[in-house]
Amino acid sequence: MKTQILSVTPQSLAYAKELIEAGEVVAFHTETVYGLGADARNDAAVQKIFALKGRPADNPLIAHVHAGFDITALVETPAYTVRLREKFLPGPLTMVYPSKGRVSRFVSSGLPTLSLRVPSSPVAQAFLRTVDIPIAAPSANRSKHVSPVTAQHVADDFDGDIPLILDGGPCTGGIESTVLDCTGDVPSILRAGLVTREMIAAEVGACEVYVPHEGEKPKSPGMAYKHYAPSCRTAFFTAREAEQAIRCYLTEQGRGGTPYFLCEHSFLTEHPEYRALDLGETPWEMAARLYAHLRTGERCATLLIGIEPKQDGGVMDGIKNRLLRAFGRSEIREKDV
Ligand code: TXA
Ligand code: MG
Repeated sequence: MKTQILSVTPQSLAYAKELIEAGEVVAFHTETVYGLGADARNDAAVQKIFALKGRPADNPLIAHVHAGFDITALVETPAYTVRLREKFLPGPLTMVYPSKGRVSRFVSSGLPTLSLRVPSSPVAQAFLRTVDIPIAAPSANRSKHVSPVTAQHVADDFDGDIPLILDGGPCTGGIESTVLDCTGDVPSILRAGLVTREMIAAEVGACEVYVPHEGEKPKSPGMAYKHYAPSCRTAFFTAREAEQAIRCYLTEQGRGGTPYFLCEHSFLTEHPEYRALDLGETPWEMAARLYAHLRTGERCATLLIGIEPKQDGGVMDGIKNRLLRAFGRSEIREKDV
């Protein structure tokens, strides 16, 4: 199969609609990462997504809809969710609701809930308006690989396996949407992202952050897997371990390898002599650059050495979560670096 990368035109949208109606999978730009979409009502089409990605069947998908879609046809909407939708949608917030069971049971992996997202990307909106149905879409990467933030990244993982990528250029958000469980009295964050706990609490009074207990099956199964992982060797150091990180770099170089740092800008200004992928200064810059740098790192580095950025809280929570999981860690513990 030839994979076409097309920008949004009346022709490419008509082609995308034709493919979706035929049960095919179409990749599309969103403001967070590219998605791999199929008709959420079609069992076979949804299963095709799982097969293409190599995704475990117990990891549910998000259904994407356009801004004018009547979501009450799909889910129950608790009262406090009205305010959250008004404030944050369209945008990088996925809300998990009690499902009315109107989409394929494979979308939610058998859970009684359905997660819905209304992306703000004009490409995603045009695509979703054109098809006017819920589109199940995970990030358009092979399972456990780094999420794609350009059409080329999607092609790197799926060239020849999907017919169409709707190109919208680089994703400006850069990390996946915040996933917010809205099935209880107080909303609870299952995956941190650009819409933060502080922003949600400011609207509805309170917001929890879900942490699974030891041994418990997590509410958001995706968070149980190693993820976002570049294919090269990696090492990770906390913000206070710069000296160790540099020793690690020099050892790799001494062995004839090509180490790269992945670090915030301030580290580079202090150490301009080393090869590095610069995450920038603000949390938003870091989010926008992280996945592209991880993909560059796996192409160019024999060892990618992550250094934890110094800031905490807000958007940094989402970035640190991705960074740690890319480096195969569940938390930052200095003693086991
Ligand atoms: O920004 C995004 O959210 C991107 C773009 C394409 O929209 N999509 C994305 O999808 O990141 P995916 O499949 O890579 O991640 C979805 C996450 C997983 O951690 C999954 O377990 C969780 O959302 N999830 C989906 N439906 C859920 C549900 N009903 N209950 C709990 N967690 C759910
Ligand atoms: Mg993903």
